[in-house]
Amino acid sequence: MPSSFVLSGLVAHTPTKDRFQIMEPGYLLCLDGQVGGLFERLPQAYAGLPCYDFPRALILPGLCDAHLHAPQYAYRGTGMDLQLLDWLNRITFPQESLYADALHALHAYEPFADALKNSFTTRAAVFATSHTPATMTLMRLLERSGLCCYVGKVSMDRNAPESLLSAPGADARADLEAWLGDALTGFERTRPILTPRFAPSCSDALLALLGELRKAYRLPVQSHLSENLDEVAWVRRLFAQDSCYAGVYDRFGLLRGEDVVMAHGVHPTPEEEALLREAGTLIAHCPASNTNLASGIAPVRRYLDEGVRVCLGTDIAGGHDLSMFRAIADAVQVSKLRSHFTHGAEKPLTLSEAFYLATKGAAGFFGPVGSFETGREFDALVLDDSALASPLPLSAPERIERAVYLDRELVLLHKFVRGQRIPLGNGKEGASP
Ligand code: GUN
Ligand code: FE
Repeated sequence: MPSSFVLSGLVAHTPTKDRFQIMEPGYLLCLDGQVGGLFERLPQAYAGLPCYDFPRALILPGLCDAHLHAPQYAYRGTGMDLQLLDWLNRITFPQESLYADALHALHAYEPFADALKNSFTTRAAVFATSHTPATMTLMRLLERSGLCCYVGKVSMDRNAPESLLSAPGADARADLEAWLGDALTGFERTRPILTPRFAPSCSDALLALLGELRKAYRLPVQSHLSENLDEVAWVRRLFAQDSCYAGVYDRFGLLRGEDVVMAHGVHPTPEEEALLREAGTLIAHCPASNTNLASGIAPVRRYLDEGVRVCLGTDIAGGHDLSMFRAIADAVQVSKLRSHFTHGAEKPLTLSEAFYLATKGAAGFFGPVGSFETGREFDALVLDDSALASPLPLSAPERIERAVYLDRELVLLHKFVRGQRIPLGNGKEGASP
């Protein structure tokens, strides 16, 4: 596969959240891993490049999953009648304890990495567990997948089974630095991310250590925030000195910057919302998880109106489905319910807004990605939607909407990350490129 080439077909993306830009046909230029331009007619200067024509396909930006848990993939779709804290104690913590066994980790992470490679996702922020060998196995598998991922060894030192807790005291630093020593070398696409599980599972000392490491190593951060009412009340009791949940992370230097993502943000206080806006924190909205675990519906319309950064995540396995198209559809659906319960005060999301959340919404955190604007990293999906053909001709916007809602009927022909084609193992990928 050459490093510079052209894809042509129906090209669509959301440079702004308010509408799709659609070209049919469009010529999408990749120059050494970056978008070189999107044209209605290919400029003569590029006429010599290989041009791969997909007259019946959709060409869309790769999707960004800003929050999911690799060890939870194995049991996704179970325990879905529980709320967050019971689900953590009864299912998640016992399951994650199994990753102390390196062989179990390999057996569980191989199918996960394979599924993510063959999904619509090109960028992902992934929680592992607290076990270093298993986390390194996951990092190697994801590196081999060709996707660009952040992977976090989970930090927790209280309120969980012993087998999941970080080493106490001085050893916590040595433990994390030993992981970082391995995780920061030898990877092109896979980067470590600091991962305090959530405030209730971290002592002040552990959060302070993570804040120090963030500064010393310039590392990104991922965690959970204001997901569930019982959890929020618990944080208020555990951290009585902090005026809001986000304030806990902020006190330790773990909230501010475009490289911080916090999952959920379902129940922010007004003060917390203002803090998130000011801090530039990215909220990963996880609609399926928030429904399955009865957490609620995040105020995404308000976040957008107020300038809080928002993107989307599947939150496997609070969310049961790895498909980011499904997450887009879920985001629209739950926003309609929220609109209903706010008596129309918070308007539902449009499809282009939800698509933006799954793409350019995560730009910054994942780097210059998420659209086909010139200079962005070239992450693209080529999708055969011919199974969705209708007796009546479909407009381009209709085809895009049906692709999002009926993603099971799509065939992913090709997937590109930073201009490199991912060799898909779904048995369905197209012939060359
Ligand atoms: N809060 C702390 N841990 C978790 C987790 O694994 N999943 C979700 N959804 N919320 C959490
Ligand atoms: Fe989560």
